[in-house]
Order: sequence, then structure tokens, then C-alpha cells
Amino acid sequence: MERILENKVALVTGAGSGMGRASALEFAAQGAKVLVVDYVPQGGERTAAVIKDKGGEAIFLQVDVTNPAQVEAMVKKAVDTWGRLDFAHNNAGIEGTFGPTAEGTLDNWNRVLGTNLTGVWLCMKYEIPQMLKQGGGAIVNTASAAGLRAVDGLSAYCASKHGLIGLTKVASREYAKAKIRINAVCPGPIETPMLQRIIDVSRTLAPASTAGATPIGRSGKAEEVARAVVWLCTDAASYVTGVAMPVDGGYVT
Ligand code: NAI
Repeated sequence: MERILENKVALVTGAGSGMGRASALEFAAQGAKVLVVDYVPQGGERTAAVIKDKGGEAIFLQVDVTNPAQVEAMVKKAVDTWGRLDFAHNNAGIEGTFGPTAEGTLDNWNRVLGTNLTGVWLCMKYEIPQMLKQGGGAIVNTASAAGLRAVDGLSAYCASKHGLIGLTKVASREYAKAKIRINAVCPGPIETPMLQRIIDVSRTLAPASTAGATPIGRSGKAEEVARAVVWLCTDAASYVTGVAMPVDGGYVT
């Protein structure tokens, strides 16, 4: 099969687990060189090793997406290593704690917004100038079905993902003429360590998060989201920018 991203360079944040790992593997399967980014080394190193075992090219870099200097160094690493940055999947995220809005802590609010919203803004702040220099690129931010509808008990998370969709839309308009396409994916319940934590922590939330809540009748696989992410980066999606694309088995419909 033709590898459609040969000679391209991608970075994926949160690539040590779940959907980030799946998209790093999918970018590599399509021929891209991949900068695997996570703040947990074990998972990220494993992802890079799997890519190399399959004959692909990957490097792991430990980065906390809430740290501006580390995020700047992340983009520099891709450019120093491979000379360019074509695609970025800004995917690192945390769910935070559960409970009614008035019972949340300021610490939880700041951690969740700091990672899921400010962290993605920081990534784009350094990715976009590099793509402008090159004359284009594509960015996909991982939002959530919780960016399109409410999930009780997760107000900080929902606020961060709604905000991320707004951020994605504004940036997509600002850089459209510069040939940088910027989109979001909005996964529904996807079988990853995060979903398992959500199910474990809150049995009351579980029915809304898992199989029964989707018209398709099952939760999703990380690979099903990864294929959408990579598609959004390819020329097949050349006229798609500023969308918040549900990949959710019909959950928000
Ligand atoms: P996961 O917990 O399996 O993986 C998230 C990865 O992000 C981990 O490897 C973690 O170490 C990394 N990470 C977290 N904070 C970081 C930081 N500050 N800097 C660098 N890396 C960091 O979670 P999953 O499910 O793969 O989630 C990926 C994205 O998808 C997240 O943004 C999440 O909010 C979103 N999402 C997940 C859904 C699900 O059902 N699993 C549904 C909708 C959205």
C-alpha cells in the first residue's frame, strides 16, 4: 500500500499512551517521521521503540506541555532533527477530579485548564511559526465529545474542551490563507487508560461514558481516532479546516 506521508514530519503530544500512541503509530505507518512527546518517559519510549521495531523513524522527547520552555524545545527538536514540522497532533490531556462544580478545587481547575487548554495553546504558539516559515502544515487538537456537550461531574474538563474548540476555530481562520489547516477531533468514549480511570473513579458516570451511550453500541478504539487524525493531516482533507469532528459512534448526535 502507498505510504501517503513519506518524507513528512509529525509530532504527537501525549504519545506515551492511548490515542496519542495510536496516532504516532498511524503517522509512522503512513511513512512520517514522528517526534513522540510525553511527560512520562516509560510510555513515550515504548511508543518510539514500537515504531522503530516496525521499520519507522521516531524519537522520544520528554516534555510537559504546560512548560513553555519545554514546548519551544519540542518544536526545535523536530526541526533540528528532520528539518521541518508538517503535522502536530496536540493530544496530551488529563481528566482531573470528579464532582459537582461548587465542590471542585482551584488546584484541579488550574491543572485541567493548564494542560488541556493552555497546553494546546502553547503548542500552537511554537508550532505555527515553524509552519509559516515552511509555507504550510496541519494541526489536529484532541478536544472531546465533552467539548460539544455536558458531562456531569467534569466541569473543568468540559470547560477546557469547549474552550479548546473555540481556540481551534479562531486559529483555523487566522492561518487558513497561510495554508495551515487547524482542526479538532472530538472523541467519544475510547478504550484507553483514561476511560478506564473515569469508569473506576465514578461508577455513576460510567453509563454515560461507555458502550451503551453510543448509537453504535460500543466504545471506540484508539486506532479509530488515530485514523481520523491522520486523515485530517493528509491532502485528502485539503478543504477541511476549523472543524470539531466527532469520532464518537454517534454519542453527541
Ligand atoms: P491517556 O491518559 O491514556 O493518555 C494521555 C497521555 O497524555 C499520557 O501518556 C500522559 O502521560 C500524557 N500527558 C498528560 N499530561 C501531560 C503533559 N502536561 N505533558 C505531556 N504529556 C502529558 O488518555 P487518552 O484517553 O489517550 O487521552 C488522550 C486525549 O484524548 C486527551 O486529551 C483526552 O482528554 C482526550 N479524550 C479522551 C477520551 C477517552 O474516552 N479516552 C474521550 C475524549 C477525549
